[in-house]
Amino acid sequence: MKRVYLDNAATTRLLPEVLEEMVPYMTELYGNPSSPHDFGQKAASGLSMARQQVADAINADPSEIIFMSGGSEADNTAIRGIAERYSKKGKHIITTAVEHHAVLHTCQLLERNGYEVTYLPVDEYGMVTVDQVREAMRPDTVLVTVMFANNEVGTIMPIAEIGALCHEKGVYFHTDAVQAVGHLPIDVKAMHIDMLSMSAHKFHGPKGVGALYVRRGIVLPPLIYGGAQERNRRAGTENVPGIVGMGKAIEMALDGLDEKAERMKALRDRLIRELPERIPEIKLNGHPTVRLPNNVNFSIKYIEGESILLMLDLNGIAASSGSACTSGSLDPSHVLLAMGLTHEIAHGSVRMTLSDETTEEDIEKVLEVLPMVAERLRKMSPLYHG
Ligand SMILES: Cc1ncc(COP(=O)(O)O)c(C=O)c1O
Repeated sequence: MKRVYLDNAATTRLLPEVLEEMVPYMTELYGNPSSPHDFGQKAASGLSMARQQVADAINADPSEIIFMSGGSEADNTAIRGIAERYSKKGKHIITTAVEHHAVLHTCQLLERNGYEVTYLPVDEYGMVTVDQVREAMRPDTVLVTVMFANNEVGTIMPIAEIGALCHEKGVYFHTDAVQAVGHLPIDVKAMHIDMLSMSAHKFHGPKGVGALYVRRGIVLPPLIYGGAQERNRRAGTENVPGIVGMGKAIEMALDGLDEKAERMKALRDRLIRELPERIPEIKLNGHPTVRLPNNVNFSIKYIEGESILLMLDLNGIAASSGSACTSGSLDPSHVLLAMGLTHEIAHGSVRMTLSDETTEEDIEKVLEVLPMVAERLRKMSPLYHG
């Protein structure tokens, strides 16, 4: 049975071209980039090349890129760093109710340490507006952190507008762009973004490597103390093969980005259009159009997301019932609840996230299998009388 992988928001396949770039840095070019000898300097040039590739992808300067272990570390570093360094300006932070837990739990930690956090509510599509951010701003607001695009429902936030507002008000602006990088064009300068988090494994790079963009002029204390790596901004010997892989992966993701996004959108929209024709009483979650090109999220009434996933898996389709970290727990997704879904409907949600490698045939398989799964589960559901 050919397996269909539709869980690309959880993680993506490492591309063979990316692996090929990484391998020499695990075999012959194994020096420590901090060492002055030839081995070290060859590793150091791998880092420089990757730093340039990552910077180019978001219109930043290479000196503004700090490599680290992934999206979670980047979110922690940005939020805790600003709170620590600029607390004299104020101790109020604005975020949204639908952020990834890497942001939400960091904000909660700061609340326990005397900071005040405003969690902006979202509308039925999971969207916040720039006016909500403006109204929440106070003289002591030090940081606004709003995700670029939501990992569960794919809704894209008005980042350029929020960036312009923060710029005008002199408030630092961080965005968790882990799901957006490699799918949407990003220009940190034009969008007035001060800090941006990204993670390589979401765009066909390796796991355990990511980066934080920090605009020149902002001084962030490190989260990890020790050596002077990353210009004293993140201690620890660099994951050279991973970083080299991240550089290659981002370059490949941006090559033909628009065409790839259009292709994925066409496949995404086939599911959005045709699944409701085949399954009665289902609801699209997230914005109908202002959403990631690769994200589809439906609630299928009267049945459980977990059972849908199991049956899809038995039929060779890998999907998700929310974010990878929350599936496995029985709590309904905080994102769907914030969008106003009842517990019951939130429980019946299934997320399918495409990649550039998803084919028409994969989509046809979903269109065939998911209605059958929904019908079978509904027959067993005590809630369904249809
Ligand atoms: C929006 C968002 N932020 C942060 C993360 C965490 O990234 P990482 O797994 O690289 O720590 C994820 C991963 O699922 C994500 O989707």
